[in-house]
Amino acid sequence: MPSVGVMSDQLTVVLGGTGRTGRRVVEALQRDGHPVRAASRGGSGPGTVRFDWTDDDTWEAALTGATRLYLMAPDGTPVDPGFVARAVESGVRRIVLLSSGAVEEMGDQRLLDAERLVQDCGAEWTVLRPSWFDQNFDEGFFRPGVMAGEVVMPVGDLRQAFVDAGAVAAVAAAALTRDGHAGQVYEVRGPEALTFDEAVATIARVSGRRVRFVGDPGAYRDALTAAGQPGEVTEAELAAFAALRARGDDEPDDVVERLTGRPPTTFPDYAAAAAARGAWRD
Ligand SMILES: NC(=O)c1ccc[n+]([C@@H]2O[C@H](COP(=O)([O-])OP(=O)(O)OC[C@H]3O[C@@H](n4cnc5c(N)ncnc54)[C@H](OP(=O)(O)O)[C@@H]3O)[C@@H](O)[C@H]2O)c1
Repeated sequence: MPSVGVMSDQLTVVLGGTGRTGRRVVEALQRDGHPVRAASRGGSGPGTVRFDWTDDDTWEAALTGATRLYLMAPDGTPVDPGFVARAVESGVRRIVLLSSGAVEEMGDQRLLDAERLVQDCGAEWTVLRPSWFDQNFDEGFFRPGVMAGEVVMPVGDLRQAFVDAGAVAAVAAAALTRDGHAGQVYEVRGPEALTFDEAVATIARVSGRRVRFVGDPGAYRDALTAAGQPGEVTEAELAAFAALRARGDDEPDDVVERLTGRPPTTFPDYAAAAAARGAWRD
């Protein structure tokens, strides 16, 4: 008779299965032979399901048969309490939530609400609070700045422990598939705390592009005003980044190595690999 309920038989549904972390969570689970379902609006093919936060008719198909959930919502999208309740009702017993570092200091109510939701939902939960993803520079919101020659962020010379999205995904996979992580909030940091100036200089060096970093809040206000962002949104962002600066420099930690057995990729190694793939070619 086949054994029932062994850990590797547990189906994990991965939200944001086409995104920066979700895609890599799917890969990490598949590599280790765990059953996985990738959920997003645009995913297609075997092992994927259409899932849309804004269409609750898509929720059931995503959840059916799943006992574990990688829970993420894209920037600006709240985690719907109704979805988490449905997940638990339909048999999800373990949830790993992608939150973010410095949510308290920056007043990120969307993610603070999501954290409280999973902590009260009745399933085992683990919260991940990663620092800035390395991949913001090639797959995310810093890429346009890199390509235009100027990355503007109101963080001055603050040091942040940029972390590889693959390491965040590996931590998520470990928390989803191994015992001992229930009830934990993990800061997930890279191996070195860099200033944005250092990070951008690394990108410039490996890509061969002329890119500079501008960390002055006034320049950020000017850039966002010129781009048409409403003033009150910009001022709220500036206040949040001022709070982040007041929090002080990140210290690297050992969460990635402790949970996955491997140290995270360094920023220069991430950047060199991305450049070799042609990430910043015109
Ligand atoms: N960037 C950073 O440095 C950083 C650091 C710490 C934490 N975070 C947090 O990480 C989260 C973003 O995660 P990520 O970078 O892995 O994602 P991402 O790359 O931004 O991708 C978003 C994912 O969500 C899916 N999606 C978009 N709209 C959707 C909808 N209406 N319904 C269902 N799925 C939808 C997208 O796929 P489809 O388009 O196919 O639906 C995609 O798979 C945010 O909460 C952010 O606060 C980011």
